[in-house]
Amino acid sequence: MTAPLPHGQTPDAVLGHLRSAYTEDFPFAELLRDPLPGGAGQRAHDAADLLLLDTLATWSEVGHRLDPVVVLDDRHGALTLPLLKAGVAVRLGQDSASHQRSVTRNAERVGDRVRSDHLLTRGEIGPELLAGARTVVLPLPRSLDALDQTAHLVAEHAHVDVVLLAGGRDKHMSPRMNEVLSRSFTSVVAGRGRSKSRVITARGSRRGRPAPFPRTRAQELPDVGSVTLAAYGATFGGARLDPGTRLLLEAMAAAVHSGTLTTERAIDLGCGNGTIALWLALQWAGLSVLATDQSADACRSAELTARENGVLDRVEIRRDDALSSVDEASEPLVVLNPPFHDGNAVDPGVAQRLIAEAARVLEDGGQLWCVWNSHLRYRPLLERLVGQTRQVARNRQFTVTVSSRRR
Ligand SMILES: C[S@@+](CC[C@H](N)C(=O)[O-])C[C@H]1O[C@@H](n2cnc3c(N)ncnc32)[C@H](O)[C@@H]1O
Repeated sequence: MTAPLPHGQTPDAVLGHLRSAYTEDFPFAELLRDPLPGGAGQRAHDAADLLLLDTLATWSEVGHRLDPVVVLDDRHGALTLPLLKAGVAVRLGQDSASHQRSVTRNAERVGDRVRSDHLLTRGEIGPELLAGARTVVLPLPRSLDALDQTAHLVAEHAHVDVVLLAGGRDKHMSPRMNEVLSRSFTSVVAGRGRSKSRVITARGSRRGRPAPFPRTRAQELPDVGSVTLAAYGATFGGARLDPGTRLLLEAMAAAVHSGTLTTERAIDLGCGNGTIALWLALQWAGLSVLATDQSADACRSAELTARENGVLDRVEIRRDDALSSVDEASEPLVVLNPPFHDGNAVDPGVAQRLIAEAARVLEDGGQLWCVWNSHLRYRPLLERLVGQTRQVARNRQFTVTVSSRRR
């Protein structure tokens, strides 16, 4: 059966209204951002989530067969849990391990009102999860590369009549998103706005396009020379050397040469494309590195980077929310270029959590090397959470510090 509306039409425009079957009874206010920090006014859902659900309900009303429904990168369950409550089976795929934990905890929180046991399937974002999907729902990611990768996967592996609904806040959307979706779909239409949010509908899969990711790039790293960096779509900074990381590695190289920095083991916390883990492994021939990131794409990228440069035997890659799988007081060296966003929102709590985790796992005398945007003034935080902190490099944009853990 083909979807009932011709390509280019959306049910809100045809019917003149949206249905609220999935939103009207759901206790959204009970959802929390936990384990991510959630200050006053930070909710675990937004107007784009509600608009996506109402748009989905309206597609159902005009006769589109929703099932199988795939939800991608739901942050805290605000998309998945209302669907389950309404008896709609969901396949859920999430890049972020932090968001995976958040959905699990919210599912427990609203548990008795949600029928999840046989309705929810969770898996990694890939061909198996998307196979045959008729409806795919996702909050628009910040990164166009991430969107490109997802759109390609959906076009290749979902049902040919799939309806892809991608929602976001107007302030975070741009026409470039439509262009990116148009590489994988013949029909890309932005719906009417509501509460400063909008849903883009993509239909008409273009199949056979080569996968846009992973990509690799030759880069010069301080002190160790030319390497190959690799990135999948949702990886911070792509396959490039981040300018903050460059300053961090220059400062670490100076400390290695002056004999003040030696170690046999290190953690690259929030490894992204794996630049820091690679640099550490190239700097010390006997070193073993643990590279961790909450993003599945970052982990795949760090693994490919390590393999491309012949150090995979000494780099262990582990997907983890912060350092939840690492013992307290066990590590001599943690290296961190912390994020300052959660999704589209600038959120200092994200970095604070990672710094606190570094403090937890460092042994007595262990060091945290950290680079941060100078205007963020993390030094008092580092002093408080880790210990004595000194600045070892600074340029117009970034500051590099070393904090020593005392127990
Ligand atoms: C600024 S990027 C740095 C990436 C890489 N280390 C580099 O230097 O290019 C920060 C990284 O932290 C990761 N991250 C964010 N929250 C995290 C968490 N709770 N646990 C682990 N990693 C996290 C992000 O996915 C991102 O890859």
